[in-house]
Amino acid sequence: MKSQGCAALSLLLSLCACPGLARAQDTQDAKPEAALIERGRQLSIAADCAACHTAPKGGAPFAGGYGIESPMGDIIATNITPSQSHGIGSYTLAQFRAALREGVRKDGTHLYPAMPYTAYTQLTDADTQALYAYFMHAVKPVDQPVAETKLPFPFSIRASMAVWNALFLKDERFKPDPAQPELVNRGAYLSNALAHCSACHTPRNMLMAEQVGKPFLSGGSVGPWFAPNITSDPVQGVGGWSDDELLQYMKTGRVQGKAQAAGPMAEAIEHSLQHLPDEDLKAIVAYLKQVAPVGGDAAKPRYGYGEAAHDEFDMRGLTQGADAGWRVFSGSCAHCHQANGTGTSSNEYPSLFNNTATGGDRADNLIATILHGVNRTVQGKPHFMPAFGDEASYTDRLSDQEIADLSNYVLTRYGNHAVKVSADDVRVAREGGPKPFLVKARPAMVPAMVLVALLLLAAVIALLRRRGQRAH
Ligand code: HEC
Ligand code: HEC
Ligand code: HEC
Repeated sequence: MKSQGCAALSLLLSLCACPGLARAQDTQDAKPEAALIERGRQLSIAADCAACHTAPKGGAPFAGGYGIESPMGDIIATNITPSQSHGIGSYTLAQFRAALREGVRKDGTHLYPAMPYTAYTQLTDADTQALYAYFMHAVKPVDQPVAETKLPFPFSIRASMAVWNALFLKDERFKPDPAQPELVNRGAYLSNALAHCSACHTPRNMLMAEQVGKPFLSGGSVGPWFAPNITSDPVQGVGGWSDDELLQYMKTGRVQGKAQAAGPMAEAIEHSLQHLPDEDLKAIVAYLKQVAPVGGDAAKPRYGYGEAAHDEFDMRGLTQGADAGWRVFSGSCAHCHQANGTGTSSNEYPSLFNNTATGGDRADNLIATILHGVNRTVQGKPHFMPAFGDEASYTDRLSDQEIADLSNYVLTRYGNHAVKVSADDVRVAREGGPKPFLVKARPAMVPAMVLVALLLLAAVIALLRRRGQRAH
């Protein structure tokens, strides 16, 4: 990050070198400001503000309007351009900091944690100031409203987030660990305060807060996707990846014989990680490699499963009679991934064995990839697989049962054959993934709240009666 900042600064110095003394005085004042703005721009990339605040398909930068899917309903990212009427133009630095680090808006209402303030709370004063300078001075104001977030009751009560924050928000700035080398500390800051890896990769508790302590980065659901264990465990985590492979994954989203990034990880790479300088990515790798390992009972790593199908009869599914999954595979997948699953030699179409999407102990990412495809643009080049769950596409659309049969075929042939997929699993994924406890409990919440209200009312009436009796 720093190197680009210095380049910008030296460019600025060279531009400002010639004018007379009076002007030189101005530039003295302007210099730190321009460097600060540039630093803020880089931080906004590392923190991936655009992923949520810039609507996809050509939305104006940071003008909001994109609905972040949450199990409770869509939470709409607001306009954070410096527009006075519809953006954050009237925010002071202190108010901006409160939004980023405490999840509180200018008007004092609470933000939902779909805005990752639980991570940004670690940002230093200097960095929040740089971000503020960037948003106020270098982002173009857009005077355009966004739709209002309307979650169903009781989630519509924003004040309830005050209780949630009291329980789960660790309102503390980043503290480097003196026992760790500088590189690891830098990686920790990048991963935790800025890139918020744990927002997806750490499992959540019943109230949807990241679990603390041991489960850190051990894997979590993101809608129908599953952000896998990325702790240093050599089997369950990414301890078996080389440093270069991890760096390459973050920079490009693909590592031959290991993994490709689709869904939310593709977005993180597309908008943020691919733009980070290598020194920053190296720092993140150094940090990941020393995160406490979380193991399990898998015999080999996710990328360690399967091999090419080599038997002609096997390949045609003839030995299994008329395998329904093979028929779908042959019709919808084989022309890219090849009939024997090896993909193409250029790795443009990856192999389906030695692939973390098929070798894990759950099939979420296989199912989600079939439903939603892959769409990731890296260094200007698109990597695209069609979505077979797409309602709009009649030719490609596969039913729940077809996707289940296909998944079981792929898992048996190329991946972890202990994992089985049912049509019901596919239906759940199609509907946005497993519903967390809070959402399942909602139907009971309203009657429970009514009951509590009635009990309180009864208590108040009883109290008033007793007082009335005493008064007589
Ligand atoms: C993962 C998605 C996500 C990311 C990343 C994100 N935001 Fe947000 N942000 C949101 C959502 C959603 C809201 C609105 C939440 C609500 O309505 O409770 C929001 C609200 C805000 C607000 C409050 C504005 C207002 O008055 O309503 C500010 C300020 C803000 N974000 C700044 C930022 C900055 C700066 C970054 C990057 C450092 C960032 N956000 C990154 C999702 C995100
Ligand atoms: C918005 C959610 C999200 C964020 C933020 C995120 N990830 Fe991911 N990550 C995922 C998902 C989902 C996958 C699975 C993608 C797939 O298989 O297509 C994944 C996959 C990965 C993998 C590959 C693991 C494997 O076995 O295939 C690595 C490594 C990784 N992420 C590292 C990181 C790091 C490091 C960060 C922070 C710098 C990060 N991720 C931030 C959601 C996220
Ligand atoms: C038009 C070509 C094409 C077709 C058809 C196709 N794929 Fe893909 N597939 C791709 C590409 C491209 C990628 C991603 C490569 C990359 O990320 O670099 C991919 C990636 C994958 C992945 C890894 C995704 C991840 O997140 O780790 C799986 C699993 C997969 N495909 C399975 C299938 C299955 C099953 C079918 C049949 C329904 C299918 N593909 C059809 C081109 C295709």
